[in-house]
Amino acid sequence: MKNNILKISHLSKNYQDSDGEIAAIKDINLDIEEGKFIVIVGPSGCGKSSFLSILANLDNKSGGNITFFKKNIKIGYMLQKDCLFPWLSILDNCLLGLSIKGEIKEEDRDYVIKLLDMYGLSEFKNKFPNSLSGGMRQRVV
Ligand SMILES: Nc1ncnc2c1ncn2[C@@H]1O[C@H](COP(=O)(O)OP(=O)(O)O)[C@@H](O)[C@H]1O
Ligand SMILES: [Mg+2]
Repeated sequence: MKNNILKISHLSKNYQDSDGEIAAIKDINLDIEEGKFIVIVGPSGCGKSSFLSILANLDNKSGGNITFFKKNIKIGYMLQKDCLFPWLSILDNCLLGLSIKGEIKEEDRDYVIKLLDMYGLSEFKNKFPNSLSGGMRQRVV
């Protein structure tokens, strides 16, 4: 074992739907070294999104083990659908998480505006999602 950061063994994921059980992932085994850039390629429906959702802890696995060898690892995952609310401006979409948590402070608002600027989106902050391209919408997410 080199400088492994993540080990995945015998990972499986089954979904239940009206037609019965779907085996989306069967027996993934993977060691990932720190600093490596990994690409997961496969045809539509082969289980890529299911795999990433499980890694990001957005969904449960059905079987197998996932072991992280570092504490407090942060996992970010760009979802296929951006799920922006069409009736909220770009700024309000960005502030939504904070507004659900409680009151938004002026400094939170300024920070979000700074981030939008960093991603080249500041001039779109008062626009609505349907005025943005797919790539711009994903940067908002
Ligand atoms: N929530 C779900 N319920 C039932 N089946 C699902 C669900 N999500 C994905 N699947 C099925 O699992 C398989 C893998 O899907 P997915 O992980 O989205 O593939 P990919 O991202 O590689 O296109 C597909 O057969 C898909 O129909
Ligand atoms: Mg997918």
